[in-house]
Amino acid sequence: MSLESIRFKNGKLHILDQLQLPKKTVYEEIKTVEDGWNAIKSMKVRGAPAIAMVGCLSLAVDLENQSFELTDDVLNYVEKKLEYLITARPTAVNMMKTANELLDYSKHLALEMPETESLKRTIIERIEYFLKKDIKDNESIGEHGSKHIMNNPKCVKNEEKVNVLTHCNTGSLATAGYGTALGVIRSLHTKGFVEHAYCTETRPYNQGARLTAYELIHEKIPATLIADSMAALLMKSKPISAVIVGADRVARNGDTANKIGTYQLAVAAKYHDIPFYVAAPFSSIDHDTEHGDHIEIEHRPPEELLSIHGVQIAAEGIGCWNPSFDVTPYELLTGGIITEHGVFNKEEILEKLTNGY
Ligand code: MRU
Repeated sequence: MSLESIRFKNGKLHILDQLQLPKKTVYEEIKTVEDGWNAIKSMKVRGAPAIAMVGCLSLAVDLENQSFELTDDVLNYVEKKLEYLITARPTAVNMMKTANELLDYSKHLALEMPETESLKRTIIERIEYFLKKDIKDNESIGEHGSKHIMNNPKCVKNEEKVNVLTHCNTGSLATAGYGTALGVIRSLHTKGFVEHAYCTETRPYNQGARLTAYELIHEKIPATLIADSMAALLMKSKPISAVIVGADRVARNGDTANKIGTYQLAVAAKYHDIPFYVAAPFSSIDHDTEHGDHIEIEHRPPEELLSIHGVQIAAEGIGCWNPSFDVTPYELLTGGIITEHGVFNKEEILEKLTNGY
């Protein structure tokens, strides 16, 4: 059974506190939107799709305890809470897109549903639908990605199996389930195609060492951890077939924001002629942002770089620059963008969006 970052059952929401992994498995109950916001901000839950799911589900459990007189009161409450949830972390677009979708849906619903309790219940049901859809979309990403990689002669040369490298954590812990980039690796493994998976440590927050390594072991995928600074040498000395990463936001021109360190991996992959894939659902594509330079990059507190588990590791008094994400230019996404609808280039994605995907 795969790891569960989010448990939503009988109107109750629990999240796995990822700050305590891999040492302890502790679930925490989320009862209000404020609890949801705090869990996202403090990174107890993280990963673009999981942020959106926990944000919306925190609204669902919060709504259970509210009563409203008028449908307008329901809509105002939902709008205010969603606006607040979006402020928790700025780079990942999934929370914002899901919030807009939910608000539009709620407004349309209110036109034909004058009874506040039914309106509230139907909004909660819609949020539950998002949860199921995320898992289904990730399974499709895994399927499309594994097929594409196994049919790409640049990835599969004479060997029948592949060696892959991934960054940060994009698995069950970063989504409602299955994962995006790690979902592709999971799908490759299920089909017997993985020779070896490498994951980066992902400094400074160590999502790779703490979370991806944990998931790879859990799934019994043959895997090795490397420090971020070893990636170029790994590409030079081992037959790496593909680099597969996730996304926090894909701009209209295809530039992709993802965990800090992604850009340098893409540069190194290009130099070594290794296909570089981004795996992300359509909910990570932000067509209102023209160019990667316009994506807001979250900066995390200096302590996350200067210390580990509260123990200072850097020289006292040193300055600190701690951007949490970087933007990889589209031209470096040489493998393509793996989505739930297939593997595309930026023009194909634009066409799909124009046709209502
Ligand atoms: O800061 P984090 O841990 O939320 O960053 C996560 C990433 O950068 C992931 O690669 C991205 O959100 C995709 S998760 C499927």
